[in-house]
Amino acid sequence: MNTLFQKAIDLRLPHLNAETNSIRLFDGSGDGLAEVYLDQLGEHWLLSTHDGMLPEDFRTTLSQFGKTVYWKKLDQHEKQSPSLLCGSPVAAPFLAKENGITYQLSFDSGYSQGLFLDQRENRARIMKMVKPEQRILNTFAYTGAFSVVAASAGAITTTLDLSQPYLNWAKTNMSLNQINPDKHYFCKGDTFHWLSRFAKSGKRFDGIILDPPTFSRDSKGKIFRVEKDYHRLVALAKSLLAPDGWILACTNCRKLSAWEFEEQLIKGMGEEASLESLPMPPEYSESPYLKSYLIHHGHSPD
Ligand SMILES: C[S@@+](CC[C@H](N)C(=O)[O-])C[C@H]1O[C@@H](n2cnc3c(N)ncnc32)[C@H](O)[C@@H]1O
Repeated sequence: MNTLFQKAIDLRLPHLNAETNSIRLFDGSGDGLAEVYLDQLGEHWLLSTHDGMLPEDFRTTLSQFGKTVYWKKLDQHEKQSPSLLCGSPVAAPFLAKENGITYQLSFDSGYSQGLFLDQRENRARIMKMVKPEQRILNTFAYTGAFSVVAASAGAITTTLDLSQPYLNWAKTNMSLNQINPDKHYFCKGDTFHWLSRFAKSGKRFDGIILDPPTFSRDSKGKIFRVEKDYHRLVALAKSLLAPDGWILACTNCRKLSAWEFEEQLIKGMGEEASLESLPMPPEYSESPYLKSYLIHHGHSPD
């Protein structure tokens, strides 16, 4: 097993550098062990396996790398924080770097640690694409990673999430990158509610990021399911686009094929929309479960 981990890590070394210290190191069956994942988060490692599937071998093998390793149980109902597997406990929070941007992470924050590593290439794309003063709307924003990259490129961002603690975390992430959060907007509440409100007041955005959870319930109990409802989200976002505006639409819903997702996007945008499929980071060797499309109204400007 040591050889499998070592081989996978050696393959990923070219992606680790002074600008980026947070990537997937081991990707399940893509690296020879189904449903076993290892991520580097800053200086630390996070092993994810299904509950009850932590052979003592993993502890022995991973402790040989001299890192602090935490263990996350996948598919658990309680959505607990990861637990220490080996090495010294980490005083939360800690810092991680990706493409020169710093993010605050935590092993004490429940199921997710503050940054979804599978969105690295999409964040890089947004950072490259956004122009100073553009208005960028980041919905279902979590800790605001997309807002931070857009703001670092000079955009005026609006960060929207149901959770006030996550919005506060997004502000912290901005401050860590010398971005003044007071110059940006933060909206607490349901995405559908805010999109309708923006539409009524005639607000427009140059770019809108849609990356919802597979299932969500708003404060009035209304349910959103990616498989059924994504087109409604896209149609609402479309009504808020400035001329030449774009939408980044993502889903990690494994039940939905890329083709079915495209159908939803076209249903929401109309036949004239241009869709560019964006790839996952190259170290994700198991399956391309994250589907991402950059959408323009008509033909893409380039
Ligand atoms: C999968 S995370 C999004 C990840 C994020 N796009 C990123 O790249 O870091 C889902 C987020 O959506 C938020 N959320 C769930 N339902 C929502 C809703 N109806 N309106 C706004 N935010 C919602 C959750 O609080 C959570 O922060």
